Amino acid sequence: MVENKRIAIYPGSFDPLTNGHLDVLKRAQKIFDRVIIAVLHNPSKNSLFSPQERVDMIEQSLDGDPRIQVDTFDGLLVEYAKMKGAVAVIRGIRAISDFENEFQMALVNRKLNKDVQSVFLMTGLRWIFTSSSIIKEVAQFGGDIADMVPAPVKAGLMKKFPLLNQKK
Ligand code: PNS
Repeated sequence: MVENKRIAIYPGSFDPLTNGHLDVLKRAQKIFDRVIIAVLHNPSKNSLFSPQERVDMIEQSLDGDPRIQVDTFDGLLVEYAKMKGAVAVIRGIRAISDFENEFQMALVNRKLNKDVQSVFLMTGLRWIFTSSSIIKEVAQFGGDIADMVPAPVKAGLMKKFPLLNQKK
């Protein structure tokens, strides 16, 4: 039998993974046979978590589903997608404000490689205000982020922000 699995790349900084990301991942799994979560490894970007820390937290937050792989990438996304045999790149959209930047990225990616399609998935309404940056900001000052991130990410944030440990 010829294997014809449809692979999608779900790229991002994931600094850190949020429940909104997990929501998009679940939606992507309904369309694709395999999803590769690809964590951007960009030394010039100021990240809270190292690429390895981000990968570890993502893996701990998944239930070991063999259809999901976690990896890091650097360089051009479309080249990584081609190397992995992916047909699509998944991006989550929360609001219209996300769209302009995403539209531009999708067009650049298409110009670079017309065989990789950008697929935009809307997050559930519950996660529309959730972003990695907002979560880091709230966590930094000890605010409650438990509902916005999976437990392994909460634990990771508690290590970075001692103030989170002091409040319930
Ligand atoms: O979670 P983010 O930070 O919004 O993800 C952005 C990401 C990683 C998808 C984007 O920066 C990216 O694809 N970087 C790789 C470099 C690249 O391919 N650039 C050309 C497309 S703009």
